[in-house]
Amino acid sequence: MYLYNFVRGLLKIYFFQNLDVNKFIEAPINKFNMELLEGIYTRRSIRKYKDEKLSDHQIHSLLKAGMQAPSAMNCQPWHFIVIREKNKLQEIMNIHPYAQMLKDADVAILVLGDTKLEHGQGYWVVDCGAATQNILLAAHGMGLGAVWIGIQPREARKEAFKELFNLPPHIMPFALVSVGFPAEEKPAVDRFAPGKVHYEEWKEK
Ligand SMILES: Cc1cc2nc3c(=O)[nH]c(=O)nc-3n(C[C@H](O)[C@H](O)[C@H](O)COP(=O)(O)O)c2cc1C
Repeated sequence: MYLYNFVRGLLKIYFFQNLDVNKFIEAPINKFNMELLEGIYTRRSIRKYKDEKLSDHQIHSLLKAGMQAPSAMNCQPWHFIVIREKNKLQEIMNIHPYAQMLKDADVAILVLGDTKLEHGQGYWVVDCGAATQNILLAAHGMGLGAVWIGIQPREARKEAFKELFNLPPHIMPFALVSVGFPAEEKPAVDRFAPGKVHYEEWKEK
């Protein structure tokens, strides 16, 4: 019995020293959570940009963030068109009344849904929403400024984008993300609304 307790004590000391849970698990996870939440809480729509170019690596990171989004049954029913040509950006401004920030943007990413890849009818919309938000958050996290320019669900806008980008019938324009180096700063806004939180069942407040 004495020997058993002695060996157990040694093992405890060994594991305590070598498996420092705080060091290897809790601390890093908490740290990353903090940074992610800070990004979510401070993201704003940025519509003014400096005359500075994104690197290919930055654009790749934005696209990768978009493709990391969750999607129904992991169908990933999305495509992305990277637009940098000034003429094309101008053509978009001609068909979209709320896309005038593109005059200074270095890049716009057109998020497209693929109805042949989606899990079921209409899922491409939800999945593309998650991808678009990922791109916005990634841009913010990388020190860039971005804004969501709406296309879905407006039929006339969808048709105009389909024509402008020569899209086949199963490829649906969802949203455009305008990106550049920020030339404006916006304060974080706390939108937490207790009245919109309900517990266990719907309760009028
Ligand atoms: C579906 C959708 C469509 C939007 N369309 C446009 C748009 O066409 N042009 C624009 O400047 N901002 C657009 N926005 C950005 C919103 O105006 C913005 O997110 C909202 O005012 C909140 O501000 P914040 O992003 O700074 O927190 C859109 C956002 C969403 C989610």
